[in-house]
Amino acid sequence: MAELAAVSVRTLHHYDEIGLVQPSARTGAGYRAYSAGDVERLREVLAFRRLGFGLREIADLVDDPATDAVARLYRLRGLLVEQRDRTAVMVAAIDKELGERAMGIRTTPEDQLKAFGAQLYEAIGSAYPATRRTEPRIAARIWEALGDARTVLNVGAGTGSYEPPDREVTAVEPSAVMRAQRPAGAAPCVAASAERLPFADQSFDAAMAVSTVHHWPDPIAGLRELRRVARRVVVFTYDASTTGWLQRFWLTRDYLPEFADLLAGWPSLADMTRAIGGRAEPVLIPWDCADGFFEAHWRRPEAYLDEHVRRAVSVWTRVGPEAEQRAVNMLRADLASGRWAERNRDLVALDAAELGLRLIVA
Ligand SMILES: C[S@@+](CC[C@H](N)C(=O)[O-])C[C@H]1O[C@@H](n2cnc3c(N)ncnc32)[C@H](O)[C@@H]1O
Repeated sequence: MAELAAVSVRTLHHYDEIGLVQPSARTGAGYRAYSAGDVERLREVLAFRRLGFGLREIADLVDDPATDAVARLYRLRGLLVEQRDRTAVMVAAIDKELGERAMGIRTTPEDQLKAFGAQLYEAIGSAYPATRRTEPRIAARIWEALGDARTVLNVGAGTGSYEPPDREVTAVEPSAVMRAQRPAGAAPCVAASAERLPFADQSFDAAMAVSTVHHWPDPIAGLRELRRVARRVVVFTYDASTTGWLQRFWLTRDYLPEFADLLAGWPSLADMTRAIGGRAEPVLIPWDCADGFFEAHWRRPEAYLDEHVRRAVSVWTRVGPEAEQRAVNMLRADLASGRWAERNRDLVALDAAELGLRLIVA
């Protein structure tokens, strides 16, 4: 067991003695015998340990009677993804500094520190407003789905895109960098996370979440919170359950297959829909989509060569600088040689594309 889990026998003994992972049986010779359930618990303990939790905190987490194994796995996954994103942000910051040093530019002490320990949107958020704004055709769908709701909660609100102008909106946004970029006169914004909304049950007519669920450490818990605080829920998100989209979108198919790694373990559309008790509808992306999200430039490939376009989309930071540079270099070469045009001839005739975006309405 120690060998498999890459920990010392002493560690296993210690976990046994303090009651954290106690093997269910002993062999005749007195050796500890771990059942499948014990292994599951050990795996959880080790993962929380790797995330830096103390043994006492871990004991509280794994023994929490309010959660089951699946809920804890989602939680663990969310925490690990957060750590991965933080690492990606730090790698990007170091690469930038190396590039600047090579040109004789000194990074300020503030910038050096800023990237360390930053949440993803604390690090990349300032690049957001350059290309991210309300796409009116998608907004019309969201606002229609809000029905006659008068009070609306916008969770993961960012800089305020898609907030309906004719209703009483309250925003929730955990990133200070994003909150600071909300325009003057935007709806009041509360610093909180989807998974723990500081509102009583049913306090809003509707809750909406746009292009944000894939950032939540625990998407299902967050969706249940939306359901709890509002009578109606509208979510604009991505269907990761059909890997066919990866093949259909030339960017992920031919240049950035690493996108698939970001989706691994992401709850299915069915899980998300079930969490709020709704139904999902496809949302086609217009060829001239005004909101520069990842898929927005499907018919305008040159846009992906633009650093501003990429910096406003978290995918590019999350895949890491190597994959990003490789994808951009390959795309640049294929655009120059005509290979991209040849391969994607069919797109020119399309005005809107189905690339897995969904509106879940409950
Ligand atoms: C791609 S932006 C979308 C912003 C806005 N809804 C829009 O459509 O422009 C994702 C936002 O989700 C926020 N976010 C990240 N984790 C969150 C969480 N656990 N709860 C709520 N929002 C979160 C980020 O800070 C970021 O502002």
